[in-house]
Amino acid sequence: MSASKNGREPLYVVRNSRIHGRGVFALRYIRKGTRILEYTGERIDDDEADRRYDDTKMKRHHTFLFTLGKNTVIDGAANTGGGDASFINHSCDPNCEAVITGRKIFIHALRGIDPGVELAYDYQYERTGKNDAELEKFYLCKCGAENCRGSIMKPAKKKRRRRKRRPAKGRLAAR
Ligand SMILES: C[S@@+](CC[C@H](N)C(=O)[O-])C[C@H]1O[C@@H](n2cnc3c(N)ncnc32)[C@H](O)[C@@H]1O
Ligand SMILES: [Zn+2]
Repeated sequence: MSASKNGREPLYVVRNSRIHGRGVFALRYIRKGTRILEYTGERIDDDEADRRYDDTKMKRHHTFLFTLGKNTVIDGAANTGGGDASFINHSCDPNCEAVITGRKIFIHALRGIDPGVELAYDYQYERTGKNDAELEKFYLCKCGAENCRGSIMKPAKKKRRRRKRRPAKGRLAAR
């Protein structure tokens, strides 16, 4: 499982990953901004995605889904036309990003990537606002980055703390 462009050595290879299962690794130096590969698969709606991947029946979360837009998901499983991009794991300190161009998804390099380095982008799973603590465990992140958020979900929105107004000189602050 590797890809070659213009007869040169392939740009990447799919192999076992320390993060999870199989992952995609650079074989050659990949320049910042390079469009590396397309995330292919079958276009389905949310209901069909729920039918195919029932979270409640999974011990650990594992899907090949990519949300393309409102009620449109790409199933990148191998039996539905998925390709190598389906094996790219998540990192909280990603070296790649997924760029949606019209109806397609491409994986681009966010920075220069050395040979041997695993490609990863930030999955940023949407939070529902409900059961977040439970979901954080279900979507446990093993990217190993220094700034790992501990979960594949989007960072929680910080609650804005209201700054206490300092009392004007000579006045008592209201409590
Ligand atoms: C599209 S697959 C990625 C390929 C996967 N490694 C494999 O071999 O099938 C997405 C799944 O990989 C796992 N995964 C990806 N990144 C992860 C991470 N940083 N920590 C834990 N699991 C991860 C999750 O189970 C997720 O549902
Ligand atoms: Zn992480």
